[in-house]
Amino acid sequence: MEVLTTVLETQNLMKLLRSQGKSIGFVPTMGALHHGHISLVQQAVNENDVVVSSIFVNPIQFNNPDDLEKYPRTFESDVEMLNQAGCNYIFYPTVSEMYPDKVTKSYEFGALEMVMEGAFRPGHFNGVAVVVHKLFDIVQPHKAYFGKKDYQQLAVIRMLVEMEKIPITIVAAETVREPSGLAMSSRNMRLSETDREKAAQISKTLSWVKSQKGLLSIKELEEMALSRLKPDFNPEYFQIVNAFTLQPVNSWTDAPKLVACVAAHIGGVRLIDNLEL
Ligand code: PAJ
Repeated sequence: MEVLTTVLETQNLMKLLRSQGKSIGFVPTMGALHHGHISLVQQAVNENDVVVSSIFVNPIQFNNPDDLEKYPRTFESDVEMLNQAGCNYIFYPTVSEMYPDKVTKSYEFGALEMVMEGAFRPGHFNGVAVVVHKLFDIVQPHKAYFGKKDYQQLAVIRMLVEMEKIPITIVAAETVREPSGLAMSSRNMRLSETDREKAAQISKTLSWVKSQKGLLSIKELEEMALSRLKPDFNPEYFQIVNAFTLQPVNSWTDAPKLVACVAAHIGGVRLIDNLEL
């Protein structure tokens, strides 16, 4: 496995590999890797000749400077995990390598960015889209892998690819969870042991909501889910939405597929999770 740090060497190498007829799979990350990330890499290894993963804590997608500063950085163990998973190249640029000039690009995702993560984290999805588009331009993979853990991000990436006519297949991967049900996340490293135990309540609430599908109204269930979370968490939202548009629904028959999405704070850490219903 090789670590690449410059845009130029990465572009040239990828160009060479493509000219040799190799299929390229790409897994963008912000590092602090866990088994959720590694499951994407393993899927990419199974489906492509060459796998590239990027590690870049993208400053422009953090709307909260404190969150950016506290974002865990564990490069050495990341390298070890990627190597073991069969990754071939790590793209590990600095901020000035990725953003030599002031970022002026902005994307419009319409109603998709007005809800949930878009509403609570202004500018977040634009920052994600800018960096993912740049990474796609540099690596030009055949396939790129994203987790359903970040359900709305996945929808934004699909829209980006469609809007910009980017010839890359987006592959969605299932959420990997701890035995307690807690969705794996780099942010879990910042939880105290007690909060980590309490955090399992998020996925328990999602499973409970799924078990009540159709038995109660959407509004009633959303409110009951929030009150189940409130003793331990400071929840931002709990919403049952259309799984394709991510827009709120009023009844169980409003969309062909629904997903319940939640964001909640515990011990100063912001966690998100979701479950397809
Ligand atoms: P990051 O949070 O590091 O996540 C990288 C990828 O891993 C994302 O596609 C995310 O959905 C996936 N992932 C995270 N936790 C997962 C889990 N428990 N199970 C399965 N997949 C999981 O998402 C980002 O980075 C950034 O926004 C990025 C796309 C890299 C742009 O900066």
